[in-house]
Amino acid sequence: MGLGEIRSRTGVAGLDEVLGGGLLPYRLYLVDGDPGAGKTTLALQFLLEGLRADERCMYVTLSESKQELEAGAASHGWSLDGIQILELLSQADLFDDTEQLTVFTESEVELSTTTRRILTAVEQYAPHRVVLDSLSDLRLLAQNSLRYRRQVVALKQFFMGRRCTVMMLDDRTMQGPDQQLHSIAHGVVALNSSTPVYGQIRRDVRVVKFRGSDFVSGRHDFVIRSGGLTVFPRLIAAEHAALRERGRLASGVARLDALLGGGVDRGTSTLLMGPPGSGKSTIALQFAAAAVARGEHAAVFAFDETNAAMRARSMSMGLHIAEGRGAGELDFHQIDPVVISPGEFADLIRRSVEQDDARIVIIDSLNGYLNSMHHSNYLTAQLHELLTYLNNQGVATFIVVAQSGMVGMNMAAPVEASYLADSVLMLRYFEHAGSVKKAISVLKKRTGGHEDSIRQMWFDEHGIHLSEPLLGLRGVLTGVPSEPARTEDPLSLHSHG
Ligand SMILES: Nc1ncnc2c1ncn2[C@@H]1O[C@H](COP(=O)(O)OP(=O)(O)OP(=O)(O)O)[C@@H](O)[C@H]1O
Ligand SMILES: [Mg+2]
Repeated sequence: MGLGEIRSRTGVAGLDEVLGGGLLPYRLYLVDGDPGAGKTTLALQFLLEGLRADERCMYVTLSESKQELEAGAASHGWSLDGIQILELLSQADLFDDTEQLTVFTESEVELSTTTRRILTAVEQYAPHRVVLDSLSDLRLLAQNSLRYRRQVVALKQFFMGRRCTVMMLDDRTMQGPDQQLHSIAHGVVALNSSTPVYGQIRRDVRVVKFRGSDFVSGRHDFVIRSGGLTVFPRLIAAEHAALRERGRLASGVARLDALLGGGVDRGTSTLLMGPPGSGKSTIALQFAAAAVARGEHAAVFAFDETNAAMRARSMSMGLHIAEGRGAGELDFHQIDPVVISPGEFADLIRRSVEQDDARIVIIDSLNGYLNSMHHSNYLTAQLHELLTYLNNQGVATFIVVAQSGMVGMNMAAPVEASYLADSVLMLRYFEHAGSVKKAISVLKKRTGGHEDSIRQMWFDEHGIHLSEPLLGLRGVLTGVPSEPARTEDPLSLHSHG
């Protein structure tokens, strides 16, 4: 966006971000999308934004009545007072259109009655912003494609050079994209929606073209809720590189930190892998508690666990964590994977980092995150972008991955995620002396050193405890270790030291 360049804001903040600040004024834009995609809602937001900027705004409706429009607006809490609404939906128009064509003197183009009415009204009211809802109706009225094209060309010629920003809506009733329309418009915004087998409708917006301006390419998730459209611009990690304090984050549990070569590095991600109940969330929470105790802000994004369950567990372990959005507090975000899209999730994380200054982020769990995705082939790409973003921000990220199966090495993870993370902590159950114990080890750590050892781990009301390295046992990670013949109990080490 050039310095001092004026943009017409659309009234949808995320979309303006995608458009490099907003639409370029006095041009013609096409918004296309299937029925129900949100075109009318976006168009109303565009005009309401115009009103806020003291611009004259006009809505030309060929399909919905003024009452229907107002009712729809009211459902979002909007009043359309101040917007000039031109309603052209009577049967008479239809007949007029089929019966007579007049010649519009300026351009020598045949114009239908409907088109003429639009042009006359625009000339009289001289609006800064115009919405035409919709071209599909114009197409129907014109009855054949040749006449329809003439109307569209006439509209374009009429608007050219006028100080008027035009948004034309089209509901794709034509087979395939209307190439001519796309070439006539200065910009094309496509609204898409898909309905997953299970869960809510998923919506995304894409800028197909935007003459004279840069824009963020690709698909951006959006939602329509009471209050209108909210667009979540696709996260591009490289655009958010920040020079943040790095350094190490210790858990405060000496042996856990020893295992990790001093703790985890800020600006890296750590995967906590293990079977159900093995203590993945607890370890993540321990790091959060340590950060919060130092006055930092931490955020948990929980797909699986409820706030109450997390609180109960941390209390039972003697972790008292203040909750809230400030420094020295932990913010607990309960995520409903059925409702949220990956784009909205990334947006939540961004706000947590950029507005609340979260220095530690916990995603619990990746399994839940996976469930929120309808196109799992994009998962790795999106997750990679998210983790890169968090690393760039100097955040210490923890990702919990629940593995299926209870014992043994070959447990299935929902996605091969270990290569995405900088460090991998693995938790396992093993059998020893007639009971089931937990083991912890570090599989990889990209930055700095770590122990190769396996330690036993247990929790009580004082928190997390680790044993000295289990040197006397072989095959702990198989779940059924053996020990070389010796008299002393290898696990007795943990009770002292
Ligand atoms: N108050 C509201 N709260 C939440 N969602 C809403 C609300 N009002 C409308 N919607 C959603 O917005 C969608 C339609 O929006 P809109 O009328 O803008 O679509 P459209 O593209 O103009 O449709 P058409 O092609 O039929 O004119 C609906 O499918 C509905 O799911
Ligand atoms: Mg509509």
